[in-house]
Amino acid sequence: MEDLVSLCKRRGFIFQSSEIYGGLQGVYDYGPLGVELKNNLKDAWWSSMIYENDNIEGLDSSILTNPSVLKFSGHESTFTDPMVDCRECKSRWRADTLDSDKCPGCGSTDLTDPRPFNLMFKTSIGPVDDGSNFGYLRPETAQQIFINFKNVLDSTNKSIPFGIAQIGKAFRNEITPRNFIFRVREFEQMELEFFVKPGTDEDWHQKWLDKRLGWWEEQGVNKDKLTIYNVPKEELAHYSKATFDIMYEFPHGSEELEGIANRTDFDLGSHSKNQSEFDISAKVEKNNESNSKLAVHDLEEKKWFIPYVIEPSAGVDRGFLAILNEAYNVEDLGEGKERTLLKLKPHLAPIKAAVIPLKKNNDELVVLSKKIKNELQSLNLGRILFENTGNIGKSYRRHDEIGTPICITVDFDSLEKGTVTIRHRDSMKQELVNIDELVNFVKNFYA
Ligand code: GLY
Repeated sequence: MEDLVSLCKRRGFIFQSSEIYGGLQGVYDYGPLGVELKNNLKDAWWSSMIYENDNIEGLDSSILTNPSVLKFSGHESTFTDPMVDCRECKSRWRADTLDSDKCPGCGSTDLTDPRPFNLMFKTSIGPVDDGSNFGYLRPETAQQIFINFKNVLDSTNKSIPFGIAQIGKAFRNEITPRNFIFRVREFEQMELEFFVKPGTDEDWHQKWLDKRLGWWEEQGVNKDKLTIYNVPKEELAHYSKATFDIMYEFPHGSEELEGIANRTDFDLGSHSKNQSEFDISAKVEKNNESNSKLAVHDLEEKKWFIPYVIEPSAGVDRGFLAILNEAYNVEDLGEGKERTLLKLKPHLAPIKAAVIPLKKNNDELVVLSKKIKNELQSLNLGRILFENTGNIGKSYRRHDEIGTPICITVDFDSLEKGTVTIRHRDSMKQELVNIDELVNFVKNFYA
């Protein structure tokens, strides 16, 4: 883990948030390369969910959440972790992560009994902070999907089975954030809520597990490092009938990368007014209760029912960490030399290609390099970097370390013969390509 943390800081993937003021625990900022890699990962997920499935729609909902949503979802009463205080050194710990009855900070056994600590962040809304006008920062993106269920259904003419997918920030006031970006207080989720007919839910649960395993492999995660944890009943979240956790061997141990839950009709049912009567147009006057029936009409059986939900919920930051961990390699080059490289899948690489003139500030080489950069950039494959360092060896090493799949060197043959040298990250092989064919070469490389 230390090597990854150090690479992330050195090369501008991830920084501690508010670092110059001593940091903010459990909160991180993504730097110039981190934001590219993160966006690429999110794009890959978005494509695999929405563009490849005509029965899945996207959503980008608010983070600030009406407390009633989280009251009826069960989060106000049950979204807690057990917390203990050390009376000696005043530190706080998550009771279920302690290995013994001793405080990990000072070793004292003078600990309080565990008590529930709600993980949601509360914030006041509006100019009067008298405690009555408050909202929560959402603890999962899922709830906004449930409360928009009818809006999406009515505006898209979808029918069951169909899904709503969303990527966005979620917040949890973790008692002990830890393991770099693995357990943090502000994080990003990629969540699909897939609505199915009750009775078909178990088949869909298995299907989504298989699909999601395949997707992680496509992102470069070695399937030998993935295991399935069939979450036992006593560990299930309050809304779940069954959950498969996709566990990945992180540097700190095997932990959840993605959870795939069968949430039954728990959420749509909880957000529906009076489940016993299915008059969908009924409106209620009562404060802070939902005024909707989140149900669908079964045309064959001519009755209303509340769909079941299968939820593949992946952590963007955890995915980022897993992908970095998989890609990170230190290669022995012999004679005491080594190189660090990130063997990222090309579609995830923060920089798609670097265009490097052989000599720094040589006008002709620079003009041609910039022209090549602009042409390749217009392919919209991601970031193409013009890099005027004048030190090819150093540039190659830097691009190995940040995962750039190809470097394009522009030299005097480029001016005279119209060729450039392509240098490949993984094999270090070099090949000559005609400038006229470069656009096609790069397009094919990324196809
Ligand atoms: N929506 C599931 C989770 O946030 O854990």
